[in-house]
Amino acid sequence: MERCTCSSSSQITHIIILMCVFVVMSATLVHGQGTRVGFYATTCPRAESIVSSTVATHFRSNTAIAPALLRMHFHDCFVRGCDASVLIDGSNTEKTAPPNLGLRGYEVIDDAKTQLEAACPGIVSCADILALAARESVVLTGGRSWLVPTGRRDGRVSLASETTDLPGFRESIDSQKQKFSAKGLNTQDLVVLVGGHTIGTTACQFFSYRLYNFNGTASSDPSINASFLPQLQALCPQNGDGTKRVAFDTGSENRFDASFFANLRNGRGILESDQKLWTDASTRAVVQRFLGITGLAAFNVEFGRSMVKMSNTGVKTGTDGEIRKICSAINS
Ligand code: HEM
Ligand SMILES: *[C@@H]1O[C@H](CO)[C@@H](O)[C@H](O)[C@H]1NC(C)=O
Ligand SMILES: *[C@@H]1O[C@H](CO)[C@@H](O)[C@H](O)[C@H]1NC(C)=O
Repeated sequence: MERCTCSSSSQITHIIILMCVFVVMSATLVHGQGTRVGFYATTCPRAESIVSSTVATHFRSNTAIAPALLRMHFHDCFVRGCDASVLIDGSNTEKTAPPNLGLRGYEVIDDAKTQLEAACPGIVSCADILALAARESVVLTGGRSWLVPTGRRDGRVSLASETTDLPGFRESIDSQKQKFSAKGLNTQDLVVLVGGHTIGTTACQFFSYRLYNFNGTASSDPSINASFLPQLQALCPQNGDGTKRVAFDTGSENRFDASFFANLRNGRGILESDQKLWTDASTRAVVQRFLGITGLAAFNVEFGRSMVKMSNTGVKTGTDGEIRKICSAINS
């Protein structure tokens, strides 16, 4: 203490206050907006394992639920934050809006919620179930796990009109960047997270316009690989069934790997918005990091990091919002 340069107790008080501010700030950086890893450790110790086993059970009978649940969490987070607003039934709620009409897997979330209410009633939010189910979906398809901070609370508002925050499949790179940056996500997060398209499928209606009379011309989108084009045309014939589904990541649609990025390099992206990640120099630089032998390890690490960021978007914690009793309706 004899080396202490503090000359008065008021200075010591100042230093203590500064230290407190610093500790609070760094805690916020580590845990996000008030969520933290292990939030349910004492209140519902089996929370995470109940969600994992529920998702795994459904996955065994239908592997398509993994991509479905990953996408659902993204669509929840981008509209009013990760607050399970996407799950609410009713007229003009988010789930009635065009971008959400293709969402699937609600029954898995309901199943997990039923089991959680039996184990620890009124404790685990639907928003956290979505975040945990998204991670489990990645793990089940061979991706690397990550720690999911929990403690989200459920919102009480869900508006179809707010789904315009979601990016569209024809969106320019500038506009994709803008929509991600509005959620606190940078260009790297954008590319990494769209890498979620390494699993799952899309309906022909979201890209068949690229295959025929593209942009008012007699031919197709020039960014499509010439040897790939006839394959896509065979999968989605002109004026064919728009609801037919095609894999995003040709050749490994059930594996959470980095081949989606190699496909972009080779002009084998399915959505116009995905292929643009390669066409545009600023996003191509990020795609390139996930090519080659070190690409997969880098992607696995970055995906978990960017998911934690996305999962903390606009979260409600503490006494905000509520813990819903059933995920499809706000508490009365
Ligand atoms: C610019 C951003 C994005 C656009 C334009 C976009 C667009 C789309 C479209 C059009 C579909 C097909 C829907 C259907 O056919 O029903 C889809 C599916 C999917 N999206 Fe995205 N998406 C984007 C970002 C993301 C992100 C950030 C994630 C997750 C981290 C994600 C995960 C998925 C998954 C896993 C599927 C497959 C769903 C299934 O098979 O059921 N997407 N996306
Ligand atoms: C489509 O055509 C418009 C003008 O007609 C042009 O500005 C735009 O760049 C074209 N888009 C693509 C992807 O070729
Ligand atoms: C087209 O795809 C093949 C196979 O993936 C690849 O070898 C080739 O380089 C691609 N062509 C272009 C122009 O990207």
